[in-house]
Amino acid sequence: MSNSAPIHLEMRGIVKRFPGVVALGGVSLHVRGGEVLALMGENGAGKSTLMKILGGAYPADEGQLFIDGEEVVFRKVSDAKRRGIALIHQELMLAPNLDIAGNIFLGGEARGAMGRLSRSEMIARSRVLLNRVGLALPPTTQVSSLTAGQMQMVEIARALALDARAVIMDEPTSSLTAGESEHLFKIIRTLRGQGIAIIYISHRMEEVLKLSDRITVLRDGRNVGELPAAEATQDKIVSLMVGRAFTHRFPDRAPLPADTPARLVVEDLLVPGAPSGVSFTARRGEIVGFAGLVGAGRTELMQCIFGVDRPLAGRMILDGQGYSPKKPRDAIAAGVYLAPEDRKRHGLVLPMTIAQNTSLPDIANYTPRGWLNRRREVRVAQAERERMAIKAPTVQVKTVNLSGGNQQKVVLGKWLAMTPKVLILDEPTRGIDVGAKAEIYRHMADMAAAGITILMVSSEMEEVIGMSDRVIVMHERRMIGILRREELTQDRIGALMTGRVEQIEHDRPITTDTAA
Ligand SMILES: Nc1ncnc2c1ncn2[C@@H]1O[C@H](COP(=O)(O)OP(=O)(O)OP(=O)(O)O)[C@@H](O)[C@H]1O
Ligand SMILES: [Mg+2]
Repeated sequence: MSNSAPIHLEMRGIVKRFPGVVALGGVSLHVRGGEVLALMGENGAGKSTLMKILGGAYPADEGQLFIDGEEVVFRKVSDAKRRGIALIHQELMLAPNLDIAGNIFLGGEARGAMGRLSRSEMIARSRVLLNRVGLALPPTTQVSSLTAGQMQMVEIARALALDARAVIMDEPTSSLTAGESEHLFKIIRTLRGQGIAIIYISHRMEEVLKLSDRITVLRDGRNVGELPAAEATQDKIVSLMVGRAFTHRFPDRAPLPADTPARLVVEDLLVPGAPSGVSFTARRGEIVGFAGLVGAGRTELMQCIFGVDRPLAGRMILDGQGYSPKKPRDAIAAGVYLAPEDRKRHGLVLPMTIAQNTSLPDIANYTPRGWLNRRREVRVAQAERERMAIKAPTVQVKTVNLSGGNQQKVVLGKWLAMTPKVLILDEPTRGIDVGAKAEIYRHMADMAAAGITILMVSSEMEEVIGMSDRVIVMHERRMIGILRREELTQDRIGALMTGRVEQIEHDRPITTDTAA
């Protein structure tokens, strides 16, 4: 079968209902080969569901699908693949215990002259495909040893192996470094040049504007607008997404008074694997941002502060008392909480409901007399659902059925509902839409105003600059700079992040007394 002519894909009036939710209420879209269509919308708007239908993962309840003008019905993923449509999911779906070649040809749809491909054919073809996506690794590399970005490239190679005429990418850059994202954009442009249709989902406005030819916006499972990228602006897209004019800004926060007492003093803390110790003092009500490239050692540092790992040297003081957690439970008992970066894996029990997930980390508080106070659980969870604008019919919904961004909100909301002394947030807004981001920022500002110290690891420069009182920059597991709020610019942080300059006025403890 020749698959070389540019495809024309059209979805018409697609309806999809789940118990208690109309995920799609009659959505239409079309895309041609050689075009990048961006699909945008708030968390829970229906983007992933629509693409799963296009990829054959779910049947639609109503509506039609046309390829090159001919109506088609997909009953399973392999039906879509056979018609040249490859879906790359929001969650990477590689088999970690297979190697790259094994993953590329997993499922056995690709066939050689003799039917099923032999292992040596797979390796040879993989090499060609890896070359096309610019991944310089042997096809026999185990997938478990790859970075998120490399896994993403393997997923694309897998799509190319199928001779895909349309490739759907659902938030492909959410765990990529800036460099990896740029690389992905290059590949996308190449694919477009080859006449492949690309549907691209992302919450990152700049990249959508840069990459796409046309933008389709969904809200609550309906089409609310479509515009050529050339006419699009951030404001236009956002107001379509949220249904009102929206200025996505950071809350105004007064500068901390100079005599604000110290809360957490970190002195020469030597993280395993780091070349030197880290020292800083975070004050009450201060938001300290941690900038750096992925792999700069920020998460590892936070894990030492939270008691997941033990530092090799140095010490910490919390509100004037020695603080040396041996496990996370010690940290929590001392009032130090961490909302992890990989929230799916560490933050959420997917088969449990929103309400159950909310009470989980604080379960003792819900079982005062030995049994679970369900009413309280539901009440707290409902407040959280409202505050975080979590899209779900009730708090009794299993979190596995929430959209990706709404899952993030459940986990984050849980941490924001507590009142620790120090809250560590690792990439707090990854995968979260603009409207909800603003809510989260406001909430962080309120927590800081109430005296909670926030350590925020973030790869989003805007957020680091918009929210932090001070920023610590890390590079290759070293603390390379510390900037005050008035010194925060993209250029300055960027120069430090890449290790081009260094700026440490040693941030020795200013005070360790606990007087409020
Ligand atoms: N398997 C399912 N069972 C029940 N409800 C579901 C299921 N899958 C999705 N939903 C619901 O359908 C709606 C649309 O979800 P979808 O995942 O398509 O959103 P999305 O636009 O991709 O959001 P995000 O930006 O957060 O990824 C949400 O309300 C979600 O909770
Ligand atoms: Mg999604």
